[in-house]
Amino acid sequence: MDQHYNYKVVKQFAVATVVWGVVGMLVGVIIAAQLAWPALNLDIPWLTYGRLRPLHTNAVIFAFGICGLFATSYYVVQRTCQVRLFSDKLAAFTFWGWQAVILSAVVTLPMGFTRGKEYAELEWPISILIAVVWIAYAVVFFGTIIKRRVKHIYVANWFFAAYIIAVTILHVVNGMSMPASAFKSYSVYAGVQDAMIQWWYGHNAVGFILTAGYLGMVYYFIPKQAERPVYSYRLSIVHFWALIFTYMWAGPHHLHYTALPDWTQSIGMVFSLVLLAPSWGGMINGMMTLSGAWHKLRTDPILKFLIVSLSFYGIATFEGPMMSIKTINALSHYTDWTIAHVHGGALGWVGFITMGSIYYLLPRLAGEHKMYSTKLIDLHFWVATIGIVLYIAAMWIAGVMQGLMWRAVNPDGTLTYTFAESVKATYPYYVVRFTGGFLYLSGMCVMAYNTWMTLRNRDTAVARIPGLELA
Ligand code: HEM
Ligand code: HEM
Repeated sequence: MDQHYNYKVVKQFAVATVVWGVVGMLVGVIIAAQLAWPALNLDIPWLTYGRLRPLHTNAVIFAFGICGLFATSYYVVQRTCQVRLFSDKLAAFTFWGWQAVILSAVVTLPMGFTRGKEYAELEWPISILIAVVWIAYAVVFFGTIIKRRVKHIYVANWFFAAYIIAVTILHVVNGMSMPASAFKSYSVYAGVQDAMIQWWYGHNAVGFILTAGYLGMVYYFIPKQAERPVYSYRLSIVHFWALIFTYMWAGPHHLHYTALPDWTQSIGMVFSLVLLAPSWGGMINGMMTLSGAWHKLRTDPILKFLIVSLSFYGIATFEGPMMSIKTINALSHYTDWTIAHVHGGALGWVGFITMGSIYYLLPRLAGEHKMYSTKLIDLHFWVATIGIVLYIAAMWIAGVMQGLMWRAVNPDGTLTYTFAESVKATYPYYVVRFTGGFLYLSGMCVMAYNTWMTLRNRDTAVARIPGLELA
């Protein structure tokens, strides 16, 4: 059996990534529209901003983002270990189990069931299901590593492994709750300890899901697509250990100027500044992998997605440490500057590296040489890039403007602007953000069409190794 790889589950997760990408971004566009035109709440509780916002974050991170990580990690671990997944049944369970988690979120969040913890909203029965599926994922992934045919564990797997282990710990510790009823529970932590645990979780969700997992994609798909070896294997190992050690301590930068002890905030700030080094180590390593092959960027839109994602990673990981400096955070916190930072990372880095990797995978899973249309990949790239620029430029300007308006004081010490005046001044930027988001979503719809056309009438549930060499 071992000469076969399990591509069925990879394909299922790849398709789910595209489908949930469209859904999650559509909800993003709807809430962006609601901020510009609040009447779109339609006075229907299920469609109010407060309920759709967590639906958006859950759909893009846990549905689009994590399905992409499942697809790529299952593919990469098989290819680099040269064995089939540890267990097909367990792998199938992770697919259906994860879809059940997503569907439960789609139903319960608009109904208003929430633990009230950002990125950990899902109530305790769903939270338990997440833990069960995640343990199955760990068994499949590490089981495959254990039965590998090659001695060496390729660096991409280290990043995937760190992400799987860290998420298990984060989810269990932050998820500790006392159920009060079938759909209501309360955190076992209280007050500032609860806030600290939450943002230790929140920041490491960024570090291990939105960063380490995607660096796993960087180390496999960029060398493959560029047909070049990783620039420096040594650097990949050094920045791996530096990154996972440093991320764990940076959470308090989300709680500057709160009841959290001041020294804890300072530790968070210092570790965030240090984090610039390993982050840029990864970015430079990925970029330099292209040395001698830069010309490929002119003709290969998949490579464009992969490399431009690294540029956004570089921007977000420069901006993040700056925003963690307390005096800068005093300006940026609570403003749309944070939203610009989030979406520079989310749309530019997470979105692009996922799209590039899935474009690489799809034809191989369909037994084709390439996607149905390369022109459409190029179109997707440009529409999405323009969308990101509109989105983040609008939010940067709006954010700094809000921060400055809120702190402006008259000579007699009274505030220069009311809060409502800052909301009014933000309106045009919300319309620009909506336009940018709409373009980004349109690009994702183009990808969905291209995916459909590539996979149509193909039944390659289990592809053979020689079949793969075709691709
Ligand atoms: C060196 C790396 C990074 C550092 C030091 C960093 C730092 C920060 C800081 C200081 C904030 C604002 C906290 C606040 O004022 O409330 C923030 C927010 C955020 N960052 Fe980063 N960032 C980094 C990279 C990234 C990346 C690559 C992403 C990927 C998408 C990301 C996603 C987020 C998210 C989602 C939030 C909003 C959290 C929330 O309040 O809900 N960050 N980050
Ligand atoms: C069409 C694309 C998208 C649009 C139009 C969009 C729009 C929005 C809007 C309007 C918000 C609420 C901002 C606020 O409360 O002021 C938001 C929050 C957020 N979005 Fe998106 N989004 C998109 C794609 C994505 C993607 C692909 C990701 C992740 C991979 C993502 C991650 C997030 C996160 C983490 C937050 C919460 C930020 C925070 O609390 O600081 N978004 N998005």
